[in-house]
Amino acid sequence: MFKLPKYNTIGKQEIDAVNQILRKGEISGFVASAGSAFHGGNWVKKLEKLFCKKFNTKYAISVNSATSGLYAALMAQKLEPGDEVITSPYTMHATASSILQCNAIPIFADIEGKTFGIDPKAVEKKITKKTKGILCVNIFGHTCNLDELRKIANKYKLFLIEDNSQAPGAKDKKGNFAGTIGDASIISLNRHKTIQSGEGGVILTNNKKIYDSCCLVRNHGEAVVRSYKIKDIRNTIGQNLRLTEIQAAIGYYQLKKLDKLNRERIRRANYLNKLFKDTSCLVTPFKYEKSKHVYYFYVMKFNANNSKISRNELVKKVNKLGYNLRAGYIDPIYLEPIFQKQICFGSNHFPFSLNKRINKNYYKKGLCPNCENINSKVLLTNMLNPEIPMKELKKFADVVIKLVS
Ligand SMILES: Cc1ncc(COP(=O)(O)O)c(C=O)c1O
Repeated sequence: MFKLPKYNTIGKQEIDAVNQILRKGEISGFVASAGSAFHGGNWVKKLEKLFCKKFNTKYAISVNSATSGLYAALMAQKLEPGDEVITSPYTMHATASSILQCNAIPIFADIEGKTFGIDPKAVEKKITKKTKGILCVNIFGHTCNLDELRKIANKYKLFLIEDNSQAPGAKDKKGNFAGTIGDASIISLNRHKTIQSGEGGVILTNNKKIYDSCCLVRNHGEAVVRSYKIKDIRNTIGQNLRLTEIQAAIGYYQLKKLDKLNRERIRRANYLNKLFKDTSCLVTPFKYEKSKHVYYFYVMKFNANNSKISRNELVKKVNKLGYNLRAGYIDPIYLEPIFQKQICFGSNHFPFSLNKRINKNYYKKGLCPNCENINSKVLLTNMLNPEIPMKELKKFADVVIKLVS
C-alpha cells in the first residue's frame, strides 16, 4: 500500500531564522500605539516588502490568517450593517463568514463550470442598491473570471476583493498575477497551503486608504486614531490580527520558494492531464490559454454515465490503496446551519434581520443550482506534493483509469 508523504517544505533557512529570533527573544515586534512598532517588527516588515516586490503591489499587510485578512479588507470598505456583498458559495467557509463578521450580508452568486469561480452573469443579476462589493475566490489554484468581474465592479462602482488564499503565483488569462486585479486580495499561509507559516495571511493592495484601514483593524485601531489624527473613524475598531516575527520569518523564506513549489505542482498536474486525457468519464482541469494554474488541488469532473463504477466506489477503492482522491469539495456554503437557520450573532437572526431581501427561505436549496450540481461531479486529489515520486503518480492514474474503464 502506498504511504502518502507529508508535505513539508520547511528548510534550513526557516529553521536558522527562527532560532535566531528565539535567541534574541523578540518574538513579536508590534506595539498598539502610534509609531514604527505599530506596523510590526523587522521580519514582519521584511515579509511585507518581499510580497510587494514579488507581486508588484504598493502595499502588503501581513495578518495572522487569511480569515483575518478577509475581515480587515472588508472592514476597510466601510460597510454599513446590512449591506450586501456578492460572493461564491463554492469556497472555504471563511470567505462568507468574514462578510458576516462585518455585520454585512453574503449574497451568493452561482459558479461557472470552467473555473469553479462566480459567474459574472450571475453576479450582475444579484446587484441591488444595497450591494457594496464583490468578494470573489480564485479556487483550487486558478483565477475566476477576473476581468469580467472587474468590469462589473467598475460599471456599478463596487469594490472587488479577491480571496486568493489558494492561488498565490497563479496568473489570469491576460498574464496578470492573481490577487492584483481586485482592489485588495488575500492569500493564506496556513499549514495546508503551498507556502505556509503555520498560520498567517497577507493582504495585497495598491490603495493607500485600504492599506491604512487594514493596519488599524490589525492592531487595535481605536487606540491610535487620535494620535494619527484620523477623521473618518468608521470601522477603525481593531482586533489583534498581528503576525509574530517567527511566522513572518518562515513566511519570508517560504515566499522565496513559491515559484519552485508551484513549478513542481504544475509538472505533476500536466503529467496527470496527459495520463487522463483519453479517459472519457474524466474532464481534466480547465485553464485559459494564457492563464497559469498553480494547482493547489487537482480537480476533475466525473461523468458517471461513461464510467464502469460510481464516483463513491471509485474514491473508496483508490483511497484503500493509500492514494488520495475525494468526491466533491464542499457543499455550497449556504446549506450550512448558519444560513439555513440564519443564526449568527445572538438568537434574533442578526445581521440577516437588517436586510429586507433576506426572508426566511432566502438561502434555500436550489439557490445556486450549478454549484450544487458541479460539486456532485467533482473529483479532487492533493497528490501534487513534490515528495510523491512520478512513478507513484503514474500508478495512481493507472488505478483510476482501470477502475473506470
Ligand atoms: C478559499 C479560502 N479562503 C479562506 C481560507 C482561510 O484561510 P486561513 O486558514 O489562513 O484563515 C482558506 C483556507 O483554507 C481558503 O481555502
